[in-house]
Amino acid sequence: MISCRIIYAGSEFMNPILKTEGLTCSFGGLVAVNSVDYRLDKGQLASIIGPNGAGKSTFYKLIVGVQTPTQGRIYFNGEDITDVKPHRRVEMGIAKSFQIVQIFADMRVIENMAVAAQQGLTKDSRMFYLSSWKNSKTIQKSEEILGRIDLLGDKEKKAGSLPQGQKKRLEIGMALATDPSLLLLDEPTAGSSPAETQMTIDLVKELSKDLSIVIVEHKMDVVMKLAERITVMHQGRIIADGTPNEIRSNELVKSVYLGGSDA
Ligand SMILES: Nc1ncnc2c1ncn2[C@@H]1O[C@H](COP(=O)(O)OP(=O)(O)OP(=O)(O)O)[C@@H](O)[C@H]1O
Ligand SMILES: [Mg+2]
Repeated sequence: MISCRIIYAGSEFMNPILKTEGLTCSFGGLVAVNSVDYRLDKGQLASIIGPNGAGKSTFYKLIVGVQTPTQGRIYFNGEDITDVKPHRRVEMGIAKSFQIVQIFADMRVIENMAVAAQQGLTKDSRMFYLSSWKNSKTIQKSEEILGRIDLLGDKEKKAGSLPQGQKKRLEIGMALATDPSLLLLDEPTAGSSPAETQMTIDLVKELSKDLSIVIVEHKMDVVMKLAERITVMHQGRIIADGTPNEIRSNELVKSVYLGGSDA
């Protein structure tokens, strides 16, 4: 008998870093996320798009654990994390930047970074409260990340005084400070100027060399430039999943966006 071993290159046989099965989240009668089966392979740079209210941000909140699913399971590197607490998910390597910027506006840029970096360096939460963000290791890590996100020259400025695009980059930097392997970005270019948008695109491309990234984004030109794969959500469900070209020519996607200004 001849035995034959086939090596599959298809993604379905690769290890997903993130997988959801039947993930559902209801708010009263409204099903914001409806039976979502999603998978992200390690190293992938993927995007989730969809009209306002499609459920994109809620899906992210379920993955980081700040929202509890009504049904379904979430797997990270093959481990079921559905019941794992949010801070533990950060320790495991999941980080998210928010749709609405969440920085400390009255604190300097370096201080914002240092608080986040201290969290990354002090995985033991008891030590977090005992250690100072001013220690040299924390400052060194903060400055290294500020360099990567091109904000080192602005480190003494009040975070609240930065233009929107820079605030968004600072928030990405704060997410990076927790040493994630999966980075979820929620509209990282919203409110950014064209030049700042381009800087964020370049930054995300650079980061994707080392990280698995999902980006929720309304600007289709940004998505088309960045994503290897696009998932489209509508009314809580995934209605399409494919390469940028496949999504561009998908009739259902076109009809969902018809009349909208985003696609
Ligand atoms: N905490 C909540 N309580 C009640 N309804 C909610 C809550 N959070 C979200 N929703 C509703 O769930 C639906 C999905 O919202 P979500 O914020 O996930 O959409 P989105 O795709 O991120 O939209 P956008 O593109 O506008 O950011 C919306 O109808 C929203 O009003
Ligand atoms: Mg949203």
